[in-house]
Amino acid sequence: MSTYDFDHTPSRSGSGSCKWDRYPGAIPLWVADMDFPAAPCIMDALRRRIDHGVFGYTHVRDEYYSALTGWFLREHGYEFSREDVIYIPGVVPALSAIIKALVPVGNGVIVMTPVYNCFFSSVCNNGCEVVECPLEPHPAGDGEFSYSIDFPLLEELASDPRNSMLILCNPHNPGGRVWTVEEMTRVRDICRSHGVQVLSDEIHCELTMPGYKYTPYGILDPEAVVCVAPTKAFNIAGLQIANIVCRNPHTLALVNRAVNINEVCDVNPLGVEALIAAYTPDGKEWLDAVKAYLAANWQYTRDLLREQLPQCPLARLEATYLPWLDVSSLGVTGSRLADMVERECNVKVNSGAMYGDDRYIRLNIACSRSLLDEALTRIIAVIKSRL
Ligand SMILES: Cc1ncc(COP(=O)(O)O)c(C=O)c1O
Repeated sequence: MSTYDFDHTPSRSGSGSCKWDRYPGAIPLWVADMDFPAAPCIMDALRRRIDHGVFGYTHVRDEYYSALTGWFLREHGYEFSREDVIYIPGVVPALSAIIKALVPVGNGVIVMTPVYNCFFSSVCNNGCEVVECPLEPHPAGDGEFSYSIDFPLLEELASDPRNSMLILCNPHNPGGRVWTVEEMTRVRDICRSHGVQVLSDEIHCELTMPGYKYTPYGILDPEAVVCVAPTKAFNIAGLQIANIVCRNPHTLALVNRAVNINEVCDVNPLGVEALIAAYTPDGKEWLDAVKAYLAANWQYTRDLLREQLPQCPLARLEATYLPWLDVSSLGVTGSRLADMVERECNVKVNSGAMYGDDRYIRLNIACSRSLLDEALTRIIAVIKSRL
């Protein structure tokens, strides 16, 4: 039995939580954070730092780099050194700086839609063009579906000299895929043969479901720029800490310049302490426990929805805590359904429109089982009342 109690979560209302306080009174199954308190080892590290009482500018010390590089080597077989790393306050600022550094203004950046909404904004904000390579859904058994990469289209898009970059999302939000070595090798070969730079966002990398293994794209492609962070897995997104990893020193120097131009080169002391504490055996123990809870929540969600809403297939969730539900058979868009659910039963979900495909809604199951049950029961009732 787990020594951590994920069934009882503290009230987050009024705590300045984006997820809970933006739509007061609604059950929030939207923004991607978890309702669980951080691991005890992180809390202890933060308490020690807070007790010190002085919060001036941060010097990121050796221990930070050894915690980061040690974790990725131990957990994922990904070897890199501190010289290959730039710390930064978030993956989104990282994406923006990397695009700025490596994609000429006006050029295209290929993204595999549906995909995390900030990929679109980061590309556009840097004067570049979003080039969609839509993922292909196909039945995956048990009433679920799964996405695959449209390789012929990827080849065609990569061969266009105006397209300079591909942003991979590994694991994929919201598609739920953990890309296999075979798939990523094909991506690498296509991009390499056409001189397309790969940027891989791996923020969800720790959150795999049982039976699925994450492989860092950077193992297969040392030229890639990879973004990692402990923030999703350890539920410390508000502490704002992330890392850019690239084993090509020239590419990394260009990115470093853009990080400085964008003035996102300083991190806060609590994020640094939290990362050091997360990437430890104690952090790993907590992570394993939270992953087991999420896996059980996923099993519960898929069983309930398969039984109650068989006409709405779920994407097979290989990683993340963000199930992706196909609502197209209901005759409403994801946006319309999300509005209805909010208005009629006070549950907040994300519409697929945000991610480039409005036939879907996205749920967040990283909450206590009882809250999840209440939210899903309400959503099912609203949908059934419309059928
Ligand atoms: C794929 C992906 N990248 C980045 C982020 C956000 O990263 P950060 O909070 O570090 O800017 C998210 C948050 O949901 C995400 O899903």
